[in-house]
Amino acid sequence: MSEPLTILGHIRQLIGREGVLKGRKVVVTAGATQETLDPVRYLTNRSSGKQGYALAQAALDQGAEVVLVSGPTGLDAPIGVELVNVRSAEQMLDAVLEHIPGADALLIAAAVADFRPADVSEHKIKKGDEATQLSLARTQDILIEVSKHKEKPKAVVGFAAESHDLIANAEKKLKAKGLDMIVANDISAPDAGFAVDTNRVTLLFPDGSKQELPLSSKAEVAAMVIEQLVEILGK
Ligand code: CTP
Repeated sequence: MSEPLTILGHIRQLIGREGVLKGRKVVVTAGATQETLDPVRYLTNRSSGKQGYALAQAALDQGAEVVLVSGPTGLDAPIGVELVNVRSAEQMLDAVLEHIPGADALLIAAAVADFRPADVSEHKIKKGDEATQLSLARTQDILIEVSKHKEKPKAVVGFAAESHDLIANAEKKLKAKGLDMIVANDISAPDAGFAVDTNRVTLLFPDGSKQELPLSSKAEVAAMVIEQLVEILGK
């Protein structure tokens, strides 16, 4: 017999078939990227991918065709998504640009590295006696690249993971990245942010309105974000 979660996934897909996002294509990114330094080492961050995977499931529940572009996470992809596995920020950008043609919405929940090692060593770097320094190079910003793209989806949603000045920082990113909504996430709270199953977020919109959501499971946050997405697509 199939695993209960697999059976549940198929049931959700059947129930969602006639949902409000039927006929819509949604691209979701999730997880952390890994930036290679040498054959055994990479730079990464603490994103678990849970919120992004929950968003993909919530979009499926409403009948959308979902492409999930994911960094390495160890999570099972929701039944019914088209999963595109990537590692680096560069691969994530390429995968997003490949899949946005025809997409109605793009939800960028991934924690994309802002920097990568400037040089990738072919061989394992050996320790010397001296302390060493690592040179870093900037990665491209996926949302900025999408905002300039001719295939930019109708709705583009970003996330802002902040440890301080949550709303001010999220407002800046909403404007700078040309977003239709940003999900501001306070990662300093122990019951929100990385690796835990709950989140505490505020949704911000370009007209200056805000919606503060109570502490919720990542699945509940995802359902509320998708509800707002449906409104944006309907406008
Ligand atoms: N993002 C992106 N490409 C990057 C970095 C971030 O598309 N190279 C996206 C994230 O997926 C998120 C949003 O931009 O949806 C905000 O990411 P965040 O890391 O909070 O902000 P940054 O723009 O990287 O700014 P900073 O690190 O200075 O806070």
